[in-house]
Amino acid sequence: MANILIVHAHPEPRSFSSALARTAVETFERAGHTVAFSDLYAAAFDPVHSRRNFRTVAKADYFKPQAEELHATRHAGFAPELEAEIRRLEACDLLVFSFPLWWFGLPAILKGWIDRVFAYGRIYGEGRWYERGIGQGKRAMVIMTTGSPPSAFGHRGLHAPLESILTPVHHGVFWFNGYAPLRPFVTWSAAHITSEARAAELAALRTRLADIWQETPMLFRREAEHQKGTWIDAVPRFLVTASRKAQAGAADALSPRDWAELRELRRTGQLVRASLANAEAKPWQAAFEIRALDTEAALALLRPLPMGEWCDLMCAPLDPGLEEALSPYWRPERQ
Ligand SMILES: Cc1cc2nc3c(=O)[nH]c(=O)nc-3n(C[C@H](O)[C@H](O)[C@H](O)COP(=O)(O)O)c2cc1C
Repeated sequence: MANILIVHAHPEPRSFSSALARTAVETFERAGHTVAFSDLYAAAFDPVHSRRNFRTVAKADYFKPQAEELHATRHAGFAPELEAEIRRLEACDLLVFSFPLWWFGLPAILKGWIDRVFAYGRIYGEGRWYERGIGQGKRAMVIMTTGSPPSAFGHRGLHAPLESILTPVHHGVFWFNGYAPLRPFVTWSAAHITSEARAAELAALRTRLADIWQETPMLFRREAEHQKGTWIDAVPRFLVTASRKAQAGAADALSPRDWAELRELRRTGQLVRASLANAEAKPWQAAFEIRALDTEAALALLRPLPMGEWCDLMCAPLDPGLEEALSPYWRPERQ
């Protein structure tokens, strides 16, 4: 049986977000697990990172949070209410964050819980991050409600894609600390759906949580695959283009097996992104950004797919600075 920590952040106990959190607690307890429930608003949790975190002082005239955290780690100096949360985190095999999406992110009370509880020296740092993080062998998951429908968070939606919205949690907190992130459970447009739809969501959550230990986690890149110091990906990228052979038959199109294999390559990070013409396009073409050691290895990932039979595949190394050169976020450094 496992230890589970559910950290919940909604100010209204009768909200749907709170109903999801309670359902998670009940489902896990009924299955025999031990659940710690940190209901942050109910506990009036203080989200402010300050000297109140500590009983010890490393440097009185300048407050450097990580230095104080390291000092408190070495001298058992965390304030009791913070120490209690840290112990809950250290003890859990599954970490769950439950919250409504606020401003494309976490409610501040939950962000503050992360800021304070994931303390330098105690939880991370001193060599512990990514695959050497405290979460190694453990799992982590988001349960979230939104105001907008899923289409608004798709890649063509008005808001940012779900993947970018959850990057700070999935990559920045879970993966950074070594936890295997599970697919999020999202109730879309929670405030606008019928009570039948809400009941169906609660049932879907119960079903999902019953099988949570069998789920295949999401993956991000490992520290070991990056150059030390610059943290640039050490694995090169290739552009593989596919075009339907002139002699291909009408039935030659992407099959469910192609899709399943492409999805798995995407999950493992070997397929970074893909652009596919729609099935009826003539000539049919596709472009795949592949992470692999060399051209042959890149092609070897796609050739065995059914698609490899009726497509010509070509491969070229990708320009490593392309995204930054075109991005409005970066100062252009080349003409
Ligand atoms: C401060 C605040 C910020 C919000 N930001 C978003 C947002 O960025 N995206 C979104 O879809 N909904 C947003 N919402 C709507 C909530 O996500 C939505 O009301 C909630 O998930 C539904 O549950 P509730 O009505 O029980 O709170 C926001 C709500 C509040 C109060």
